[in-house]
Amino acid sequence: MVKLSPSILSADFARLGEQIKRIDEAGAEFIHIDVMDGKFVPNISFAFPIMKALRPITKKIFDVHLMIEEPSRFIDEFIDSGADMITVHYEADRHIDRTINYIKSKGKLAGVAINPGTSTVVLKDILSSLDMVLIMSVNPGFGGQKFIDYSLNKIREIKNMASDIGKEILIQVDGGIDTTNINKVVEAGANVIVAGSAVFNGDKIEENMEALKRGI
Ligand code: DX5
Ligand code: ZN
Repeated sequence: MVKLSPSILSADFARLGEQIKRIDEAGAEFIHIDVMDGKFVPNISFAFPIMKALRPITKKIFDVHLMIEEPSRFIDEFIDSGADMITVHYEADRHIDRTINYIKSKGKLAGVAINPGTSTVVLKDILSSLDMVLIMSVNPGFGGQKFIDYSLNKIREIKNMASDIGKEILIQVDGGIDTTNINKVVEAGANVIVAGSAVFNGDKIEENMEALKRGI
């Protein structure tokens, strides 16, 4: 089953709690939380206090996408703040195997993200330990960017690599997804779809989510 993970980066921050209730009720399986440090990506977003404040609002999975350097420094704090699944960037961590194992040892789901310019080949050896691979379909840092078409090949490659080792895995795609291309990423093999602007656009959360689901 394909799951939707709305990215709250595009939500109205003055009404964040209320907007999370709406995506929950409209059928979001995951809540995508984009954490940015101003170093790994050229933007800064939010982290622990906001996550803690939001945690009681929904039981849905907190899908935390860490766009930060050396994410291993903060895994415990993200877990304390309510993360259910933690995705770190391959490019940001020299000891990715250790970090994945640490996340899993704490009973949480572990994901690894790769930027558009990073080949799927780098994930070959760690694939068997992962719960999720995140294929970035824009250069991370901002919502509302244009989908990079060659990401479709990368989704197919991960799907094939996983089936070669007989592994069921979550394949998440993030960046520039809307009603015009959601069918293509699903066809390529993505089963967790992140969407920010396409969900929160025009304060029509319920309608927007329905339209995306129809596209699947
Ligand atoms: C980009 C973030 C995305 C982003 C998606 O750095 O990781 O999650 O918010 O937003 P849209 O769907 O607008 O591209
Ligand atoms: Zn993201």
